[in-house]
Amino acid sequence: MSRYKVFVTRHLPASLEALQRIADVEVWSERMPPPHEVLLEKIRQVDGLLCLLTDRLDLQALSQATSLKAISQMAVGFDNIDVSAATAAGIPVGNTPGVLTEATADFAWALLMAAARRVVEADRLTRSGEWRTWEPDLLLGTSVAGATLGIVGLGRIGQAVARRALGFDMRVLYTSKHRKEEVERALGVECATFEDLLQQSDFVTIHTPLTKETYRLFGERQFELMKPSAILINTARGSIIDPDALHKALATGQIASAAIDVTDPEPIARSSRLLQLENLIVTPHIGSASRQTRERMASMAIANLVAGLKGERLPNCVNPEVYR
Ligand code: DGY
Repeated sequence: MSRYKVFVTRHLPASLEALQRIADVEVWSERMPPPHEVLLEKIRQVDGLLCLLTDRLDLQALSQATSLKAISQMAVGFDNIDVSAATAAGIPVGNTPGVLTEATADFAWALLMAAARRVVEADRLTRSGEWRTWEPDLLLGTSVAGATLGIVGLGRIGQAVARRALGFDMRVLYTSKHRKEEVERALGVECATFEDLLQQSDFVTIHTPLTKETYRLFGERQFELMKPSAILINTARGSIIDPDALHKALATGQIASAAIDVTDPEPIARSSRLLQLENLIVTPHIGSASRQTRERMASMAIANLVAGLKGERLPNCVNPEVYR
């Protein structure tokens, strides 16, 4: 029996044994993602692709995928993949939901706390030698306990963020595509319009996927609605926020501060005006980056691809309509 061919676009933190049992596996061994031309070339040759969110699988790429039986992405988000094109080509696309929920919610909270209490600025000041003495008004931040938290997108991660807020006695508002009455009862969260959420929240945290509808969801108008004391957290996707509007909001005091793990583009340019701002924390898209979580994500992506190669339904498939 001939063996399948698989291309894995980076070294993964999990054993490839299950794949290697049924396929010849080529792993892209460089730190940077394979260039688009390489991806196109591989896509023409392989039966299975295990990719990351840095690999652009657009219509051009997918139209060349004549032998591809499955695409498996090691991430919950899949906005780098033209899923309709994959579906049209009859290719199931897998992702890794669930296993990164808690790690990402932890990190959203780490950013929220760091921004509220100005942890990064405090570290910079201490190292600079400028710390003179205890002062009543040194690096005053914002209280978290008892404040109002606005969650944009109450999916798995949004809910995990809300659960953590219970411990801080917060009022939690949310917006979501669909109202979630069961979650409201279980967690005591309140459904709000997007406008009300922006106007009333002390902290706003984004947990919605990037889609046509959420692209630039945060622009000048939204920042105008927010409190001048508000803090914005983004661990979802950078393009949900208009970077120019964010710069203006932070530079002019329309909002107090922001902490973002995702940027548009990624990586953020060293020359970006955003990086000059003291009231912005930026981290390099590490929301899910706990060792345990990344191992689970990799194993789940491998299991998806093994199923796809064998012609079985992917355990986690983002385009189940492909099976109709
Ligand atoms: C995802 O999975 O979509 C995250 O952005 C990376 O873990």
